[in-house]
Amino acid sequence: MKSPEVEWKAGTGMEILLTEAVIDRRVRELAGEISRDYAGRDVLIVGVLKGAFIFMADLIRRLSIPCSVDFIGLASYHDGSFSSGNVRITKDLETPIPGRDVLIVEDIVDTGITLSLLLELLRKRGPASLGVCALLDKEARRRVPFSADYVGFTIPDRFVVGYGLDYNEKYRFLPDICLLKEIA
Ligand code: IMP
Repeated sequence: MKSPEVEWKAGTGMEILLTEAVIDRRVRELAGEISRDYAGRDVLIVGVLKGAFIFMADLIRRLSIPCSVDFIGLASYHDGSFSSGNVRITKDLETPIPGRDVLIVEDIVDTGITLSLLLELLRKRGPASLGVCALLDKEARRRVPFSADYVGFTIPDRFVVGYGLDYNEKYRFLPDICLLKEIA
């Protein structure tokens, strides 16, 4: 018999791309790499709102080093699945970053525009280092050259939701990462 969750997804045209268990395993691996690379440094983890909030919460709990956290809010997608190429800060960092080791945590790299512009902006504030950890990477969709320092999964050019990622503010609560069939 299908579980209520599977029944519900079937009713919404969802197909699981990455299960909760697969994500969990990869998050632990990423946390291990980051803990090794940042050992002995006072790292500030910056989550990009809103998509990265679940990934960031899981990631920092798997780190074996202490860290501080902050969030930045960016608007780059205006209504669903298209990229405008414009990035606006909707909520700035509360932490001064000059001289800090900063690791940005993002849900997904798509065209690369958001993170390229964000890095340019934060670099001007003089951090000691600036790294990027992205859970997902849609390499095929790049419009500007960009590679994250840590990538969870490289995925095909399909629109995904769940585990913090949304479509018009829906589906962030799903524990798995799912393909949204109707717009894929
Ligand atoms: P980029 O500037 O095109 O790289 O856009 C990155 C942002 O687009 C991410 O932080 C997401 O908010 C959004 N995005 C891109 N692809 C998807 C997707 O498949 N699902 C949900 N959000 C996406």
